Amino acid sequence: MKNHQLGGQIGTDPNFTHTSHTGHSRAKVKPSDDHPKMKLTPHEQEIYDGKKGDLLQKAMKTVVAYGELFGAEHLVDLGGAPHLAVSWGSDGIEPLLKIYKQLAAGGLKTYAPFTANPKPMDPVHLPVTDQEQAAVDKVYNRMDELSDLNMKLGMRSKKDWSCACYLPEMGNTPSYGDYLAWSESSAINYANSVLGARTNRNSMGIDMLCDILGKAPLFGLLTDEGRQAVWLIEVKTTKMPHPEMIGSAIGMKVMEDVSYITGMDRFIKGVNVETAGYLKDMGAATASNGAVGLYHMEGVTPEAVKKGRDLLNKGYQTYVIDDAELDRIYKSYPDLWRDKHGTPQKVFLGCPHMTLGQMTEWGNRIVDAMEKAGKDKIGVPTYMFGSIYIKDAFEKQNPEVAKKLKGYGVGIPVNCPMMWCSTPVEGAEMVATNSNKTRVYTTARFFFDDVLTELIVTGKLPASAG
Ligand code: F3S
Repeated sequence: MKNHQLGGQIGTDPNFTHTSHTGHSRAKVKPSDDHPKMKLTPHEQEIYDGKKGDLLQKAMKTVVAYGELFGAEHLVDLGGAPHLAVSWGSDGIEPLLKIYKQLAAGGLKTYAPFTANPKPMDPVHLPVTDQEQAAVDKVYNRMDELSDLNMKLGMRSKKDWSCACYLPEMGNTPSYGDYLAWSESSAINYANSVLGARTNRNSMGIDMLCDILGKAPLFGLLTDEGRQAVWLIEVKTTKMPHPEMIGSAIGMKVMEDVSYITGMDRFIKGVNVETAGYLKDMGAATASNGAVGLYHMEGVTPEAVKKGRDLLNKGYQTYVIDDAELDRIYKSYPDLWRDKHGTPQKVFLGCPHMTLGQMTEWGNRIVDAMEKAGKDKIGVPTYMFGSIYIKDAFEKQNPEVAKKLKGYGVGIPVNCPMMWCSTPVEGAEMVATNSNKTRVYTTARFFFDDVLTELIVTGKLPASAG
């Protein structure tokens, strides 16, 4: 198929009509269509009928109604590793907090200990001014309440706030084939694509109700049919594509559809500690520039290794990605800084949260560049974001590098950089990032690694970066 021009942002594809953001398009469904009634097991029916209490009944009725809307005929048992996306306590999530409170008061817990997305702020490793802190406290006035409720409802520990919960250091890792009910888009993408687990792109709130029941409706990305690819993505670049660029290109083209990517096994030899960071970042870009919940990569991701091109549906469309296409994608990224040619005020690295390999690579890169330049302080405040588990492992495995970074002024916060940027305190800062996801959701600007490295050392963008 001929590549057609994209405008660079979600919703500009002329072929794009509707997305359900569940990884299961309902574009062709009409209100007059029949919605199948779900067939429940005797135990599920008892819950539905209220024989196990009012709260479980409400949870079951909501989950069943949700499933029926998407054509599900059964519930399935969840397999492991619950993870929740709500991570900010504010008045804006009052309806959710109300539900959480009722569930906790009823003594209910998730089917297994859960982890949650990173909090918006990290006052220890990324402090703000007193004035900003007052604004932050006002916006997130219910953080303690959310944390307490989470612990009552089954959160694994008070340390377990990270979107990369599936990394081995954090250890909330689903197995191949496990059914999940996640709602963090980047984690969903990783679990489905890289681990071969099965989760739809659920909304927040549904994740908790499913986890309380230990069940999810069987539709979309939970089914073999829903995991078939409708796009063939042929990667014909001359070198390994940048993960954010190729992810961005795929997301904008396929929106929420499943794709089968070829040509990447020239560069990526299976899923391992070295490739995990690449696949995580690429997937997060497909999920933020589009709404992709699953991709298959020939010779790399587990289902593609197992089933090969049988994963491609008849009548699939083709999208060719070459060097020129990636260049076009990068040039389509807008500059949303308040001073378009201003000097960046912060550098944010890692969204989704970094893997241990990524933190080690960036740590060494910064140390090498600083030593080469003969400098002992970074030119712009710089932060590498990761879970507390990754931070601890990095500092333990690389004590010399960690010590040097600390001396230079590089921070390792455990919060979410995107939420930090979106927190409404006065005047958005001009942030430079290596993350397409942070770029998509905030005014931060994306730059390649070599540009960011120079910026970190000198405090200035190289002239070539614009
Ligand atoms: Fe994770 Fe926050 Fe980015 S939740 S994916 S670090 S937007």
